[in-house]
Amino acid sequence: MTTMNTASNSASNAERNAAPGGGSEAATNGAAGPPVPRDFEGRVAVVIGGASGMGRATAALFAARGARVSLSDLDATRGAAVAAELTDAGADVIFSAADIRSPSDLERLAARTVEAFGRVDALFLSAGRVEAELGPMLELYLQGPANCVAAFAPQLAESDAPSITFTGSTSGLRAHPGAPWYAAAKSGLVGMTRTLALDLAKQGIRVNAVCPSGVDTPMLRATLRGSTEEIEAKLAEQAARKPLRRWVGAEDVANAAVFLASSQASMITGVSLPVDGGESL
Ligand SMILES: NC(=O)c1ccc[n+]([C@@H]2O[C@H](COP(=O)([O-])OP(=O)(O)OC[C@H]3O[C@@H](n4cnc5c(N)ncnc54)[C@H](O)[C@@H]3O)[C@@H](O)[C@H]2O)c1
Repeated sequence: MTTMNTASNSASNAERNAAPGGGSEAATNGAAGPPVPRDFEGRVAVVIGGASGMGRATAALFAARGARVSLSDLDATRGAAVAAELTDAGADVIFSAADIRSPSDLERLAARTVEAFGRVDALFLSAGRVEAELGPMLELYLQGPANCVAAFAPQLAESDAPSITFTGSTSGLRAHPGAPWYAAAKSGLVGMTRTLALDLAKQGIRVNAVCPSGVDTPMLRATLRGSTEEIEAKLAEQAARKPLRRWVGAEDVANAAVFLASSQASMITGVSLPVDGGESL
């Protein structure tokens, strides 16, 4: 996949956000919502797998916190639609279709991001889809992140507060019967996170992972069989057995991911943070 599609908002937004490390004024997230700090103003976040689920929620939160967002996904149609939605809401967003398994796609994405925004501060990876075999699983969940690190480390090293945040899973922290290949890939990502954190510390780059348990996203629903009503009933029944009595939401993961990229987490690196409502305890 080599197509690069772009949806960008007005130059006035780009100009307003051009200076790094800018304003800290709080915005309001909707009339009834809590204030959202604009602490990422002047920063650029790259979100890979941003057309859906946790990637989409994290891109929206980065944008609400004032970041310019370079959104990317394998799915060009849905990715461009998400970028257009965020742009309509006042965010400064570009979209580029790219396959995380393709080093050349990622190099083009990095170049396009720097061309549009001039810098990269935060890299968040949330690409995923259901795979049955070990090989494709490792290519997507281990080779993909390795490709992203290779493509973006030089740009990140130029930032004064760079971070990489992977999306792992509680399947990388404990055994979930029935998914050994997924567990192998996500366990590998925990080791990659720890080791890269030390290797990239020399360049000031922090490396962490969010590790959700089951999150109600299209990827999770793709694993369930039955009618919509049956799936809803199954999800509600499982929620009732969880420690906090609800599913982890994509926004819960976005909150953790943006925290790990923020200045509040400036001494946190190498961590694989469970976002699981206590399920892996
Ligand atoms: N949903 C869960 O229950 C759950 C739990 C723990 C961890 N995770 C992990 O979270 C991540 C995101 O999952 P989600 O539930 O948000 O899924 P999702 O299906 O909602 O979103 C994943 C996105 O990744 C994109 N994608 C797929 N293959 C890609 C590729 N080769 N290159 C670039 N983009 C690609 C898809 O088009 C999609 O937009 C995955 O790494 C997954 O393993 C999911």
